[in-house]
Amino acid sequence: GSAVQRLWRGRVSAGMLSPRLQRAMKNYLSDNKHHVAYKGQRRLGQSPKELLCELKVHARLWTLDGSQPPFSSLGWDQLVPPRTLEQLYQGQDQTGIRTCAVVTSAGAILHSGLGKEIDSHDAVLRFNAAPTEGFEKDVGNKTTIRIINSQILANPKHQFKSSSLYKNVTLVAWDPAPYIVNLHKWYDSPDYNLFGPYVERRRLQPQQPFYVLHPSYVWRLWDVIQGNTQESIQPNPPSSGFIGILLMMALCEQVHVYEYIPSIRQTDLCHYYEHYYDQACTLGAYHPLLFEKSLIQRLNMGPKGDLKRKGRVTLPGLSSIDC
Ligand code: C5P
Repeated sequence: GSAVQRLWRGRVSAGMLSPRLQRAMKNYLSDNKHHVAYKGQRRLGQSPKELLCELKVHARLWTLDGSQPPFSSLGWDQLVPPRTLEQLYQGQDQTGIRTCAVVTSAGAILHSGLGKEIDSHDAVLRFNAAPTEGFEKDVGNKTTIRIINSQILANPKHQFKSSSLYKNVTLVAWDPAPYIVNLHKWYDSPDYNLFGPYVERRRLQPQQPFYVLHPSYVWRLWDVIQGNTQESIQPNPPSSGFIGILLMMALCEQVHVYEYIPSIRQTDLCHYYEHYYDQACTLGAYHPLLFEKSLIQRLNMGPKGDLKRKGRVTLPGLSSIDC
């Protein structure tokens, strides 16, 4: 069947990718830019419950808290928000947010008419420079948290300091470090320099909750994907989409994800907000997207019809899982 049908069924393999994407994948495997040396096992056929426990126990949400060098001697314990991300969204009753929506930036969300449904969630997560203005009917207009990669902070074209996309929301930034994480090396040579803009924003807007993911968190998520995939996956960090889904599973009781696993609207249009076509955006070249999506498909608790019609996956929050 087609790539989408295989994703709906959860039967994916690199061999189903186009020759161009297979070549890209091989090159990333041989480059191994982040020096990935996976030491874990590859467990096949874990149940959804076992998978959820693995994610909960081995990939606990972790943001920089300024307690580790070099950040500790740079005063980051006073710079980061006083409460952790989990504390920020834990009510008096310690339950977290009830319902959450994760809205990917895929072109397939165009003409979905899902805006109202998305906005009916208690919290909505969006990615990078994805706008709502002009697309409300399909993507809604509520944004609670925005995950941004380091290019958003470092590349002037995104106007991080002035754009309204990054105001009045909780921000969570990330940047890949080498697989064996050394925070000194990461601080000296991040992929894109997020540290300067982060420090500046914290000083100018101390009331805005703004976190940086610990680079180890990102690699522990990668480990779970590789550990549950038969083939060797790209030795590069998971996409922002996968990171965002797991972040919301840590904060919310229930998570609906939109157009991560594509619906019948599937298209090569990369983003709903840009005229750029590339199937790599949906199936992956740099990121191990195909395998991330297969893992999320295995965890889907919603009906198959939701997947096909809405591109919607239903996931449980991790706090409710007893391990
Ligand atoms: O491109 P960007 O990373 O900003 O998009 C946010 C996330 O949405 C991606 O990391 C990916 O997980 C998801 N996405 C997708 N298919 C697309 C475009 C984005 O699954 N065509």
